[in-house]
Amino acid sequence: MGNINNKQIYIESYGCAMNFADSEVVASIMAENGYETIPTEENADIVFINTCSIRDNAEQKIRTRLSQLKGNKKKNKELIVGVLGCMAERLKDQLMEEEKLVDIVVGPDAYRDLPSLVAEVDGGSKAINVLLSLEETYAEITPTRLNSNGVTGFISIMRGCDNMCSFCVVPFTRGRERSREPQTIVAEAQDLVNKGFKEVILLGQNVDSYLWYGGGPKKEFKKLSEEEKETSVNFANLLEMVANVDPSLRVRFSSSHPKDITDDVLYVIADHKNICNYIHLPAQSGNSRILDKMNRTYDREWYMGKVERIREIIPNCSISCDIISGFCTETEAEHEDTLTLMKWSNFDFSYMYYYSERPGTLAARKYADDVPEEVKKRRLAEIIKLQGEMSAAKNKAREGSIVTVLVEGRSKRSEHDLMGKCDESISVIFPREAYKKGQYVDVLIEKSTSNSMVGKPVGLNPYFEKLKKTEEVA
Ligand code: SAM
Ligand code: SF4
Ligand code: F3S
Repeated sequence: MGNINNKQIYIESYGCAMNFADSEVVASIMAENGYETIPTEENADIVFINTCSIRDNAEQKIRTRLSQLKGNKKKNKELIVGVLGCMAERLKDQLMEEEKLVDIVVGPDAYRDLPSLVAEVDGGSKAINVLLSLEETYAEITPTRLNSNGVTGFISIMRGCDNMCSFCVVPFTRGRERSREPQTIVAEAQDLVNKGFKEVILLGQNVDSYLWYGGGPKKEFKKLSEEEKETSVNFANLLEMVANVDPSLRVRFSSSHPKDITDDVLYVIADHKNICNYIHLPAQSGNSRILDKMNRTYDREWYMGKVERIREIIPNCSISCDIISGFCTETEAEHEDTLTLMKWSNFDFSYMYYYSERPGTLAARKYADDVPEEVKKRRLAEIIKLQGEMSAAKNKAREGSIVTVLVEGRSKRSEHDLMGKCDESISVIFPREAYKKGQYVDVLIEKSTSNSMVGKPVGLNPYFEKLKKTEEVA
């Protein structure tokens, strides 16, 4: 650790899991420079807000939060406020002009610069770094786990996105896609295991296009030299490497892009008991014309083909989805196509939104945002209702069966109950008895709703118990 300067930081994160993972990288960089990250805002000398720009309401929420912080700054004139992440990248110095209390604006690729930016602010000026990088992956930084349950740890395996879906701001806020060196990913997984973590979630905007060939911006496999091809590591290889770190470490990943997920990835999942039978496969729409306008590069049939392939290779695989209602020019019949695709795919659950135009994106430049808000919202309500019914039916069908739950901690509702997720990523609640956080418990499902299941424990899972015993003997 560097010099101790007694300054304390409070970091508040918004948006996707990658942003939360980035905050842990920020905490680690700051710790190296003598700053301690604390869990509450009280007593903080520095407040970092790690922001999201994905939809207008995400940015509005942050604006509200910043105006709340004005009061704190009035009370403590020395307080330093930094805006990090996607909104910082999107709005750059405009943000500092609009929000007078903001002292620092830092984009997602410039976090190594944070200590010197804070020093600049200490010297009396405002500070900004929003440079995007072609190489930065924070590969060798061990994140400081924040607000962690001590069971699940995020590992970022890549950064940026080259896909340019027409509705999406991410390529502008996070820059070009680049993959992180696999050995550093494996080392991070091992470090988590050593610290007692039981589950890792590999993160990227499009994990299936992960490709390590020595670093730098993404290249297509076919464009690699013969030597690079031979030593390259793709997502299927990486997934296997992480699964082999420890057979009792549960492995998840997110998100998969339907155009890139390969049979190889599916076979790796099927072959490893510790890789969850769960895939997040965002469709966005069920209509081919809309998918084309969204620049998703697949159509309805391709998506259905992928779902079929998943079910062939990994029977009982749970699949979740992202859906956007009311994208530019979407007709009622095209919205119906989304509903029929959802029904056909029988998703376990979905993340559902109505379209929010983002400045600078291809859709904002080329297409009129012409579906009225009340129509977008009504279609979204239909999508949510259908998904709710499907999730409820799927969970109902699980009643009477035994699922293996990795215990994350006590249930929010009662200290007598524990909560964890089964392989299929559904929350399960059961009586605590003598079970503990971090254990794999087999639970007989007795009751369910659309988003959780309740059951009674029938014992520790024999497979994971046997692994533990083998380890003890060794
Ligand atoms: N990279 C992932 C993918 O391609 O599936 C996820 C990207 S984004 C962080 C998460 C979700 O937000 C997207 O899948 C999409 O459904 C939604 N989203 C992105 N831009 C949006 C917009 N302009 N309006 C509404 N929803 C949006
Ligand atoms: Fe956005 Fe598409 Fe990239 Fe996902 S794949 S982050 S939706 S541009
Ligand atoms: Fe939001 Fe940026 Fe993630 S826009 S969803 S925090 S990549």
